[in-house]
Amino acid sequence: MELIIQPDDRAIATIVADAVTTLLADKPDAVLGLATGSSPLAVYDELVRRNEASEVSFARSRAFMLDEYVGLAAEHPQRYRNVIETEFTGRVDIRAEAVQGPDGLGEDIPAACRAYEDAIAAAGGVDLQILGIGTDGHIAFNEPGSSLASRTRIKTLTRQTRLDNARFFDDDLEQVPTHCLTQGLGTIMTAKHLVLVATGAHKAEAIHHLVEGSVSAMWPATIMQHHPHATVLVDGAAASRLQLADYYRETYETKPAWQSL
Ligand code: GLP
Repeated sequence: MELIIQPDDRAIATIVADAVTTLLADKPDAVLGLATGSSPLAVYDELVRRNEASEVSFARSRAFMLDEYVGLAAEHPQRYRNVIETEFTGRVDIRAEAVQGPDGLGEDIPAACRAYEDAIAAAGGVDLQILGIGTDGHIAFNEPGSSLASRTRIKTLTRQTRLDNARFFDDDLEQVPTHCLTQGLGTIMTAKHLVLVATGAHKAEAIHHLVEGSVSAMWPATIMQHHPHATVLVDGAAASRLQLADYYRETYETKPAWQSL
């Protein structure tokens, strides 16, 4: 796992956007994995800027989302399918039909989850997966206790996650859905490159466990320690509980120029 400490989200965004730009230059039909939440917003803004400047094209790429609330109406602005369109995919030249997410409105939920797994596999898997992390260490919506081998399925959101996300629902906990569909930890682990971004002191404990803790379903993101190509980008506040912070800084500063992300 590579740990990169940067001054702020804009510096992080530049590094992640460089990786996406390089990937799409090498493989224009690459498959991207997209996360919602506030953490990747600076990355999306930078990619939009580059797309407008014709520095990167998403025209032949495909994208899969990590998760979706169950039961939010199709037009609900917080439905992740709508959120990602507003924040990213609707602002770049990716084809609308090339963006897929789990169907949180499907009547047969297990069938919808299987279909989603099949669609990811049929696309050849995700080349680069952008991730955020919840304060309780969840990635996508894999809450503590999630099977480390899990696949796309329905999950019950923890009260903490619903509280964290209430800001998107008029600060009204009652409006936050109780259930979601999410790629499993096993699904996420099939992506070829995992890129997790986190900023702020409220993420420091989760980042500490992710990078330096024991692999455990109690801190689901720790499964990333088993991934052969995982990059974690944080600001100083999110890095504040890392025991080896000085070593990570030195490692990045002295990284050979030929070594990519
Ligand atoms: C939600 C999303 C996750 C995201 C997490 C953190 O629970 N399902 O994909 O990583 O929130 O969100 P934020 O980046 O806003 O802190």
